[in-house]
Amino acid sequence: MRIYELLLKKRNGHELTETEIDQLITGMLSGEIPDYQIAAWLMTVYFQGMTDRETYALTQAMAASGETLDLSAIPGVKVDKHSTGGVGDKTTLVLAPLVAACGVPVAKMSGHALGHTGGTLDKLASFPGLQTALTREHFIKQVQEIGVAIAGQTGRLAPADKQLYALRDATATVDSIPLIAASVMSKKLAAGCDAMVLDVKVGKGAFMQEPDDARELARLMVSIAQQHGKQAVAVITDMSQPLGSAIGNALEVKEAIATLRDQGPADLKELCLRLGSQMLLLANRTDNVTEAEQLLNDALSSGAALYKLAQMVTRQGGAADCVYHPELLPQAPICREVLPSGTGYVQSIDTLALGLTAMDLGAGRGSKESSIDLSVGLEILVKIGDHVRQGQCVARVHANTAQQAEAAVRRAEQAFVLCETPVETRPLILDQVSSGSKA
Ligand code: URA
Repeated sequence: MRIYELLLKKRNGHELTETEIDQLITGMLSGEIPDYQIAAWLMTVYFQGMTDRETYALTQAMAASGETLDLSAIPGVKVDKHSTGGVGDKTTLVLAPLVAACGVPVAKMSGHALGHTGGTLDKLASFPGLQTALTREHFIKQVQEIGVAIAGQTGRLAPADKQLYALRDATATVDSIPLIAASVMSKKLAAGCDAMVLDVKVGKGAFMQEPDDARELARLMVSIAQQHGKQAVAVITDMSQPLGSAIGNALEVKEAIATLRDQGPADLKELCLRLGSQMLLLANRTDNVTEAEQLLNDALSSGAALYKLAQMVTRQGGAADCVYHPELLPQAPICREVLPSGTGYVQSIDTLALGLTAMDLGAGRGSKESSIDLSVGLEILVKIGDHVRQGQCVARVHANTAQQAEAAVRRAEQAFVLCETPVETRPLILDQVSSGSKA
């Protein structure tokens, strides 16, 4: 079918066939279909949505668009973990060594920051010398030998996602449920895991703003996994406030290290225990949640999980002394306090604004070409529901110049809304969807 007819069909609300979706993806990759027609299709999908059948076909076409990874040389069930992206989400830095310390292999492919949300690869760059551009052989051998590796996803894995994402970013079509589901799942399927735990974030700092949308995204991703014969669990978690306290690369690494020492923030630990226990269950390490949590807690308190991180950093060429001396990690020269203008209970936190403030400071990329300042960011010292007094420090800004620090303090001040009456605290974990369960 001509692309024009295909666009017309979708625009008029009809379902595209698997062959037609394949035609779109192969035509985009070969350059036969120009960007403007792909962009028009994306916008139509944004408004018309996609049927599950269309989303399965898109995921499959994207997953098959490049190389795939074969992890069969690594013994055991390989469970991957993915977050749809949030502010202050440093969970992978904790979970990968933690789960590996419990005897479950973690072969993790990670990405760079997307928009205001951080990326594990950028955070890991805080360890001087650490390499994430690992060869396939290095990646697999490292997991065989020490049980964990985090590598950068090469452009050769699901290249269609890279191309589509750039167009989505430029055409305001990122926050479409089927497009996010296909983007995430195509990468997971190409990366060769046997099972996966998905962290679907919802709230001001996430791509999904409404719990029902997050549930739908979770249902769809789990159903795509099932379609490919893989087990999946999706945990829906709150992103109406930053996770933990640190936002920004080296700051988040320090917080992850504190968590691996069992001295981290309660919300980050809670999430790591939930996601980690689901990973242990999917890997058949144990068959009950209580024992899974016990194994994880033991790995934290014994220092085994922290040691696993040090081992991973060493094997990837990084300075592992930073794991035991986090003060050696990049540190910004200027630190300023954010003080609220009144007294009251924290009613809301504009998490998106805080993510953008960290980006302004240099913690994220404004464009593909810009570089990242690993040392800068924010520490958020209050949670929704906390009571604050006038003059109490609610956040700290870490900056490289006084001018950037002042601008960030002014922007961050606006992010905290106080009210006079007590505010109900929010649960971090809102729901869970598993293969076989009804969403
Ligand atoms: N994360 C992804 O990998 N893709 C999206 O589309 C959104 C979040």
